[in-house]
Amino acid sequence: MFLSHILIALAVLLSSTYALRIATSLQWIEHTPQPYAIKNFYKGSSTATLSSGGVANLASDSSIDLAANAETQGLKQYANHKNIRLIYIITEVSYRLVARADGVKQLSDLKGKKIGSMPGTSAAIFVQRMLASAGVTPDQYSIVSGNVCMKAPCGSGTLPSMLASKQIDAFGIWEPAVELGIRAIGADKAVVFQNGTIYREVYSLYTTTEKLADSNKRKDIVAFVRALNQTLDVYNNKPDTVYSFVAQSVGMDAEVVKAVWGDHKWSGTWVDEELMPLLVDEDAMLAKSDKRAGTSRADLEKFLDKSVIAEL
Ligand SMILES: *[C@@H]1O[C@H](CO)[C@@H](O)[C@H](O)[C@H]1NC(C)=O
Ligand SMILES: *[C@@H]1O[C@H](CO)[C@@H](O)[C@H](O)[C@H]1NC(C)=O
Repeated sequence: MFLSHILIALAVLLSSTYALRIATSLQWIEHTPQPYAIKNFYKGSSTATLSSGGVANLASDSSIDLAANAETQGLKQYANHKNIRLIYIITEVSYRLVARADGVKQLSDLKGKKIGSMPGTSAAIFVQRMLASAGVTPDQYSIVSGNVCMKAPCGSGTLPSMLASKQIDAFGIWEPAVELGIRAIGADKAVVFQNGTIYREVYSLYTTTEKLADSNKRKDIVAFVRALNQTLDVYNNKPDTVYSFVAQSVGMDAEVVKAVWGDHKWSGTWVDEELMPLLVDEDAMLAKSDKRAGTSRADLEKFLDKSVIAEL
């Protein structure tokens, strides 16, 4: 009896020591391969747990082993924490920008308009890049901050509701808010802009050089990425089997998950020559708005680390 209690206490202690701790948003479609991987495939030395957060936690809390976030937050953190590494791409999302078609036919018509987004995030970078591609600069439109919505009916203060009530002329952000915005005004009254070359969210998994150098931790990180790799196989090839899981994880309707599935590319690995131009360009934009020095291309090349993928 007594011995068994000691053993249980020891087991709890060990599992909390070896547990893989992952900081991630828990609200978005992008994060869902992680709970799916833990539930169905992860075979590390102990449990893996998700907590609300992101790549900033890797810099501030040494008990966090991995983090998931868009490349925007990754670049912001990497500027001051050169030990952070991007080791896997969970998904690349071609964001969409929806406008009310009565006043807007093409992107350049957004000059002088009110555009909803979320400042400081990948959504704001997306809007800025899309408009810049049509020669429209940030001083030529106003950004109005709004919330996302995961499920209709979308409440006041959410971007779909602000578009419907004409508080804004357009908005751009991750899904499903744009899908719900299109539905809120009617697809025939909406014009939608999207170009994954101009901007796509690169929702990635990050760790640190210290974690990668710790051989026990590294084994669990490889095990987690292997589980993600198996998950992406399901997400890519049997999406019908995961719509309900994704919907339940983030409070959506499964039918809406299906409707926006095609905007998500479940990538895993990447090609440096394709990814680097986006990172170099975006870091320069962020450096300006964050009033910091830009990160050199040589340093951005170190940010990308395929060594875990190579061990799969
Ligand atoms: C997307 O943008 C790129 C770069 O500006 C351009 O070359 C390409 O034609 C655009 N694609 C579409 C489908 O508009
Ligand atoms: C998963 O791993 C296999 C084997 O390394 C690889 O061929 C495949 O591209 C990977 N899939 C993803 C989505 O990364």
